[in-house]
Amino acid sequence: MIDLPTFIRPNIKRLTAYSSARDEFKGEATIFLDANENPFPGIYNRYPDPHQKKLKNKIASIKNIHPDQLFIGNGSDEAIDLLLRIFCIPSVDEVIIPQPTYGMYEVCAQINDIKVKSVGLASDFDIPAEEILSLVSPATKIIFLCSPNNPTGNTLGADKVDMILKNFNGLVVIDEAYIDFASTPSWANQLAGFNNLIVLQTLSKAWGLASLRIGLCLAHPEIISVLNKIKAPYNISSVAQQLALQALDQTDRKEKQVQTILAQRSYLTEELVQLPLTLAVYPSEANFLFVKMVHAKKVYQHLISKGIIVRDRSHLILSADCLRITVGTAEENQRLIYELKKL
Ligand SMILES: Cc1ncc(COP(=O)(O)O)c(C=O)c1O
Repeated sequence: MIDLPTFIRPNIKRLTAYSSARDEFKGEATIFLDANENPFPGIYNRYPDPHQKKLKNKIASIKNIHPDQLFIGNGSDEAIDLLLRIFCIPSVDEVIIPQPTYGMYEVCAQINDIKVKSVGLASDFDIPAEEILSLVSPATKIIFLCSPNNPTGNTLGADKVDMILKNFNGLVVIDEAYIDFASTPSWANQLAGFNNLIVLQTLSKAWGLASLRIGLCLAHPEIISVLNKIKAPYNISSVAQQLALQALDQTDRKEKQVQTILAQRSYLTEELVQLPLTLAVYPSEANFLFVKMVHAKKVYQHLISKGIIVRDRSHLILSADCLRITVGTAEENQRLIYELKKL
């Protein structure tokens, strides 16, 4: 357990949050002349619920947490940015990011003028926990971990993550955007034991709602209340809230799609390993494969010429000649393999 209040930037602690029209009135009313909206009836003329109460209750019940432990952001990218702004003083504080990983942690840190200490993942793409801890200084406020990791696809060793949670006097963000495709349990189950644990999840992947921009941050209520205090008042549109609520009722559909994607991940793996071009298909716990290929850049260009886009990750550390390939539909995956076989 860490002394949370000491980690919150003084200006954020002092801040009186903006109070929206819909914050100040609680009760029943039929005439709304408080928010300078257009009074003529329409579907979109009213501001959305700034607290996303219905959606929050629904997601909290699905995730088996209390709504006080949940923040909803305009994508998890919003949560990444807000966390940096809550805990890191620009040009003073720093964060640690094991690489290669999702690029937004570093970009957001740079936007906020937060120094980034990078450390390479081990050769099996797990985190070097002891090395990470040895890099910690009094200015280190956040360690960003991603499990399953983008782009390598592996989950991080539970013993390593546990070691960091227990020994780092600061915040540990574990980004679980791909957790629904993994065989390991979510770190959200451990929230009661660690007040420095922040879990990010999203409705953009397994739930198939990337365009709605619904990111989740699961953490201690003290952290969630600060996120709520500094977010833009109406950060999730009414349309996104409504459509997400409807989609979350379709658990069976989501589960079926996840199972299909997992089966297709196996199919793609089996096909890819047989290609003479393939040097390695790394084990994946996500909805994509990290694949090392002979002349990856040429393969990438060839696929583009056939109308198939994958992600070239070959410029990243430990990723020479590696492509990240999202698992598509059966037809899409067959087309991909067909084009690769012709090469
Ligand atoms: C690890 C990781 N975190 C977060 C995101 C972004 O999620 P969202 O759509 O919720 O902003 C992605 C998207 O690719 C990702 O790979």
